[in-house]
Amino acid sequence: MNIWNGAGRRIYLQEVGTRDGLQAESVFVPTTEKIALVDSLSRAGMAKIEVTAFVSPKAIPALGDAREVMLGIERVPGVIYSALVPNVRGAEGAIVSRVDELNLVMSASESHNLSNLRMTQAQSFAGLCEVAALARQASLAVNVSLSCAFGCPMDGEVAQETVLEWCARFIGEAGAGGITLCDTTGMAFPTQVNSLTRRFRDAWPDIELSLHFHNTRGMGLSNVLAGIEAGADRFDASLGGIGGCPYAPGASGNVCTEEVAHALQLMGYDIGVDLEKLIAASKRLPALIGHDTPSQIVKAGRRLDLHPLPRDFEVIRERALSREI
Ligand code: COA
Ligand code: ZN
Repeated sequence: MNIWNGAGRRIYLQEVGTRDGLQAESVFVPTTEKIALVDSLSRAGMAKIEVTAFVSPKAIPALGDAREVMLGIERVPGVIYSALVPNVRGAEGAIVSRVDELNLVMSASESHNLSNLRMTQAQSFAGLCEVAALARQASLAVNVSLSCAFGCPMDGEVAQETVLEWCARFIGEAGAGGITLCDTTGMAFPTQVNSLTRRFRDAWPDIELSLHFHNTRGMGLSNVLAGIEAGADRFDASLGGIGGCPYAPGASGNVCTEEVAHALQLMGYDIGVDLEKLIAASKRLPALIGHDTPSQIVKAGRRLDLHPLPRDFEVIRERALSREI
């Protein structure tokens, strides 16, 4: 059996730690530190970075410096710099701050949309069509992140038909070039991921599909693998595994960038990132946010980061060898 079954297939890792991650933190990470973090992620080879969110600073105080961060980062060629935008006001801020891609946000669940964005889905959709038109005028890419696509913490199951209908409307009516199916509170499970990914891929083979998982119930990495098997090649992840929507009850961290990168590299996928640089950046996070992160790679090291032999190893060996078998 070939254990390198990734066979060099390109998988794109998209960092959301500076948006989904920092929005969940109670401390305000200083602007210069945010800029340094984005720059280190760029240099580590992330394909796309969701740098920040142009949202109400009352709703998300941690990201109140969106413009300064966006304008302060280094633009590494080949990296796409994206930002989350909920409305026209946010789009205007993002456009003057020179984002490459607007990431529009709406929820597949009415209850979560109202809690998070204070609008009905119909109101969000109408506003986002305007945002998409603005983006087109500015020649910017439009991605739509559909929250609660695998279940809602308040409404429960969200039918795949409902999710696919919203995708159809965003692609057909708003002209979105990419869709992210978001598992906002870790409700997705691998066979469900496989099924929804296949249905999306069959319906829109040419639209950029991203999957966004939270590890709330320990299924994050399994869901990534299920998505890959079903044809997805773009995954959001957050450095250190931090993150979560403050307006989704029970939300916790995203799948951890260095854990996903470590696993996919072992399996032979081409992910284009420098794992060592990612781990170094992740190790700096606790000092910025004031607590440890869930990263198992920071805790345990990489698979082949070996430990020294016990100090009395030679004695143990001699003793063992002197015994009769
Ligand atoms: N950027 C900055 N400020 C904004 C803004 C934006 N994109 N949109 C609205 N505001 C400001 C308004 O000017 C107003 O400020 P004021 O109270 O000083 O006058 C305030 O925010 C409320 O504006 P309003 O239009 O009444 O919005 P709202 O209270 O209905 O909230 C959203 C709607 C979408 C702006 C707000 O809920 C939001 O930003 N949510 C984002 C949530 C989020 O990011 N969740 C996590 C990601 S999934
Ligand atoms: Zn998220």
